[in-house]
Amino acid sequence: WPIHAPYVYAINRLKAERGAVILAHNYQTPEIFHCVADIVGDSLQLAREAAKVDAEIIVQCGVHFMAETSKLLNPEKTVLIPDMRAGCSLSESITGADVRLLKERYPGVPVVTYVNTSADVKAETDICCTSSNVLAVVESLESDTVLCIPDEYLAMNVAKQTKKKIITWKGRCEVHERFSAEELIAYREADPSIQIIAHPECHPDVIAVADFAGSTSGMIDYVKTNLPGRVLLVTECSMASNVEAEVPGVEFVKPCNLCPHMKRITLPKILDCLVDMREEVTVDPVIAARARLAVERMIDLVS
Ligand code: 13P
Ligand code: SF4
Repeated sequence: WPIHAPYVYAINRLKAERGAVILAHNYQTPEIFHCVADIVGDSLQLAREAAKVDAEIIVQCGVHFMAETSKLLNPEKTVLIPDMRAGCSLSESITGADVRLLKERYPGVPVVTYVNTSADVKAETDICCTSSNVLAVVESLESDTVLCIPDEYLAMNVAKQTKKKIITWKGRCEVHERFSAEELIAYREADPSIQIIAHPECHPDVIAVADFAGSTSGMIDYVKTNLPGRVLLVTECSMASNVEAEVPGVEFVKPCNLCPHMKRITLPKILDCLVDMREEVTVDPVIAARARLAVERMIDLVS
């Protein structure tokens, strides 16, 4: 990637000078994922690593809720995001006021909130979850009924794996809701040996067609362990490009969808972020204290 080389060199140099650490989600583009990130992973791994970070400056290459989670866990550190507009359709589907209304409507029902939410929403939550631990989180609660918000499909998928009654919210990931069972069946009919691996933010009908469903890191581990001849990753486009480099014998079929929010993060913006030390992510300390408890409960449960 010769066009990226000057940025990669400058970012890595400045990162060392500033004593910064770069956390990058699995959906970041390969030149970020492989060349400038210090720590890569799914939402749970990034939250866990954020809790352990020694560096005084964290640059979050991912979307805003991820940077907020890092800030919640490191209130005294500087958390920067290369583009403040990197949002998420799930996070934007619900507000703290919505959760307060839900709690009035379902008094005493515990609230499990996906990490893909704002700090305001997390502050109203009993415990957070990610796609890799949602079942364990739901099962850890004593109540027979659980609010699992805001991702409707994630909640419908977990409802199939538990005896508890799951109350959902109408949030959707704009990337994963676009995959259909019909398109996957067509791939399977064209090549019965193909392995189909889907993210649990997809509709349950899509998950039913898949050979495996899991978080982004779960999907990567599945490919590295099983080394299928041909594989279809039913998720954001950059994932296949990132894993491809590490499993040369595997052929990736690529009907993927792009996350426009993740794609706002680029090498030039990461460099600007380190040069100007912006944009800094802040969270109201009162909200942060409550939201942190929900994230820490999750981390303590699955550590
Ligand atoms: P995970 O990496 O936790 O599977 O989450 C996927 C996602 O959509 C993050 O935005
Ligand atoms: Fe949000 Fe979906 Fe993009 Fe992840 S992939 S940041 S859930 S819109």
